[in-house]
Amino acid sequence: MTGLLKKQNGALLVGGVPVDRIVRAAGSPVYIYDVQIMRSQYARLARALPRGFRIFYSVKANPNLSVIKVFKKLGAGAEVASGHELSAAMTAGVSRASMAYAGPGKTEAEIAQAVQSGLAAINVESATELERVILAARRFRKKANVAFRLNLDYTHDDGEGGHVMAGGPRKFGVDPELAEELTKRAIEEKMIRFVGYHLFPGTGILKPGVLAGAHKALAEYALRLAESLQTPIGYLNFGGGLGIPYKDGEPELDVKAVGAGLKGAVKGLRRSRWFRQTMFVMEPGRYLAGPSGVYVSTVIDVKASRGKTYLVTDGGIHHALTPIVMNKNFPTALVNRMGEKADTIVRVGGPLCATPDQFSREVALPAPRIGDLLGIFNSGAYGYSASMLAFLSHTTPAEALVDNGRAYIIRERRAPEMGVRKKLKV
Ligand SMILES: Cc1ncc(COP(=O)(O)O)c(C=O)c1O
Repeated sequence: MTGLLKKQNGALLVGGVPVDRIVRAAGSPVYIYDVQIMRSQYARLARALPRGFRIFYSVKANPNLSVIKVFKKLGAGAEVASGHELSAAMTAGVSRASMAYAGPGKTEAEIAQAVQSGLAAINVESATELERVILAARRFRKKANVAFRLNLDYTHDDGEGGHVMAGGPRKFGVDPELAEELTKRAIEEKMIRFVGYHLFPGTGILKPGVLAGAHKALAEYALRLAESLQTPIGYLNFGGGLGIPYKDGEPELDVKAVGAGLKGAVKGLRRSRWFRQTMFVMEPGRYLAGPSGVYVSTVIDVKASRGKTYLVTDGGIHHALTPIVMNKNFPTALVNRMGEKADTIVRVGGPLCATPDQFSREVALPAPRIGDLLGIFNSGAYGYSASMLAFLSHTTPAEALVDNGRAYIIRERRAPEMGVRKKLKV
């Protein structure tokens, strides 16, 4: 279920450090990440990818600076989706030549920042955005590297197995019918360097066949356009979307099969003169960071209600929303009592006065006691940053990281901002 399974005196070990000690030092609730698991996820994917592929870590999955630095050190570039993510990736030392900026609704200020930073690619999502990039490039007298994010329909024969985010009508990317015209515009524009294409198939995809369908569609489109427009493709970004299993019985994604699918997809490109200098990119987030994290909260109350046992912790979906968004029971354990028989069916929730504040519908745990530590595994991606941290004005969770047997605090718990009234100059 997770790489985090070793224990000592009943306590889960994260990177060799007992979890209860980390909680005592960092406070509860806390996200704890094991760097060794990030490294092994990265290595597994890097081994599976065909020659010439780069990995850009998708910062949105876990934007903590210390986490970005881990992937940068392993050789990853970065995919960023906001001005602040861009700044964080720069601060982490990621080179501009290994960075792409994606996402709809980039503001003028963000486009200006991206253009001035000279990134490997700004993945343009619409005709308006292309014009904004052109204006910024002229204004700063700096050529901008432009790729188009495509909204391609792609076929797959083994079910979705995740959230598909391309094809049909979408707010994401440029429809292929329009992309050719925009590519011509980009090629003709002096202040733009057209570099290639990008496709983000979706997220949490566990079936290699789904990803292979998307990868093939992108490669075929890029080949067709490169040949018809007689233009070299310097950058081809196959997106991320690689899933990790969350609920029991879900299979691991076979990354070797993903690699084989990519190899097949780019085979034809390698014979084309337009793809001699292409940087092929994958930009996963969840797959790299997800398995490394456990979100730990403390049991505040155990109560029975009409035949059901409820366990209420000091953490909730305001800190860890993803189990609800994914609508899955994430792997859950009492991490101070690992190895004890899980013979009690409980419903686990937090302190929010909102019905969805339940990490799980029902899970089996050892009979819970007040003060136990509840761990939600596979919480390294879309945890802290993808939650509703301000809801009900609780203190935010801490973030800690274990590297080479040492534990570090990488974000302190903090009190909520309750708002300040100031006179507006209107
Ligand atoms: C453009 C883009 N790239 C990469 C990612 C990372 O996706 P994942 O974490 O599923 O790999 C996302 C996630 O939404 C995205 O929108």
